[in-house]
Amino acid sequence: ISLLLLCLLFVLPLPVGKIVMLESQCGNFNRSYFSNFTMMVKNSRLNLEFVLLRGLVPGVTMDMEFLISMQNSIRYQKIFQYTLDMCSMLAQRRNNIFKRWFATFFDASNFNKYCPVEPNVYYLKNYNYNLLFVPKFLYAGRYRVKFDMNQLRSNETIREFVVACAFVVELK
Ligand SMILES: *[C@@H]1O[C@H](CO)[C@@H](O)[C@H](O)[C@H]1NC(C)=O
Ligand SMILES: *[C@@H]1O[C@H](CO)[C@@H](O)[C@H](O)[C@H]1NC(C)=O
Ligand SMILES: *[C@@H]1O[C@H](CO)[C@@H](O)[C@H](O)[C@H]1NC(C)=O
Repeated sequence: ISLLLLCLLFVLPLPVGKIVMLESQCGNFNRSYFSNFTMMVKNSRLNLEFVLLRGLVPGVTMDMEFLISMQNSIRYQKIFQYTLDMCSMLAQRRNNIFKRWFATFFDASNFNKYCPVEPNVYYLKNYNYNLLFVPKFLYAGRYRVKFDMNQLRSNETIREFVVACAFVVELK
């Protein structure tokens, strides 16, 4: 079923009505990688600022998890999970939903478009997350979305935690 969802994600990215951000946090980060990591949501815009102390090199992965809130319950059920190889994704010429997501980030930020990502101060300013393409099959409702970034080194024998962000959003 995960494979089917993945296919749908790549084939059917269409904008839905509206994304309402209920919770957002990136409080958990590796202090060897960042001296500070600030996220702020204001007026339906996302702002990020972080000071990267160590370069990010090929082997950076993003573990993504999408969970849907069960009706009349505080429980969430996982609907989709995917590990994205960030540097390969950025290097690929083929368009996919992840590249589309990142393309919209680049317009509002000074993020690197390719690896390695050198130490620097990076920001995302006034990003309108309603520009995100959301797969059409996602129903209106409440979702939890988790992003965990890790840096794999030495042929994946070393796994360093970089940062974890979590969001609760309402699709309308
Ligand atoms: C983050 O750290 C940099 C330098 O260490 C500093 O200039 C900046 O103001 C800090 N940002 C926040 C939001 O604390
Ligand atoms: C990296 O790991 C793979 C799979 O475990 C192995 O086949 C390959 O030989 C390793 N490469 C190096 C350079 O150690
Ligand atoms: C944080 O980064 C440092 C430096 O790369 C690394 O040694 C450490 O293991 C990382 N921490 C975690 C929890 O992965």
